[in-house]
Amino acid sequence: MAKVFVMDHPLVQHKVTMLRDKNTSTKDFRELAEEISLLMAYEVTRDLPLEDVEVETPICKTVAKTVAGRSLGIVPILRAGLGMVNGMLKLVPNAKVGHIGLYRDPVTLKPVEYYCKLPADATDRTLIVVDPMLATGGSAIAAIGFLKARGCTNIKFCCLIAAPQGLKALQEAHPDVDIFIAALDETLNDHAYIVPGLGDAGDRLFGTK
Ligand code: PRP
Ligand code: URA
Repeated sequence: MAKVFVMDHPLVQHKVTMLRDKNTSTKDFRELAEEISLLMAYEVTRDLPLEDVEVETPICKTVAKTVAGRSLGIVPILRAGLGMVNGMLKLVPNAKVGHIGLYRDPVTLKPVEYYCKLPADATDRTLIVVDPMLATGGSAIAAIGFLKARGCTNIKFCCLIAAPQGLKALQEAHPDVDIFIAALDETLNDHAYIVPGLGDAGDRLFGTK
């Protein structure tokens, strides 16, 4: 089973509390989501391999570490996942960005992919799928399934708030995918919203309600 990492950093917890507050403005919500994503990128990239390079300081030549290995790709699930991209890019500016869009078919209730554009070399990259909310897990499970169907094998998932139900479902569906969460909440309500959560992440990010 892949690892689950719940952020315990005080700054992350503080910022998540501000994100939850229904009185937080759209502007502040967007900025907070970006800041938390930057801090999460630090954890998501903790296992990046390093290699030795020679560098010349003003004092002498030395051998020092540089990031090696697979390049990164960030894949937001549209639309709310977009709110996590810029924060991650601040820490890993050379990452490429892919996009995946899903909607739930009103009859079958199954997720349908309506958009997918990935870096040309996506299968050679470590992909970090980002979405602020992991509620039932349906969106994340489907998005990761669509990436795997395209041959991507090295995938991590990063969200701001998760419900236990979505976490369990995602772990069972994709046991190879490490999951990074800023806050693990109590449950889901009858409308599949996370409790206490923060409401509708997309609407709060883009001011659509
Ligand atoms: C939200 C959220 C996730 C999904 C989580 O997106 O951003 O993608 O719900 O729910 P799930 O775990 O039960 O699938 P939404 O469908 O509201 O679309 P939006 O990003 O366009 O607002
Ligand atoms: N999607 C959201 O935006 N919020 C939730 O609480 C659940 C799904």
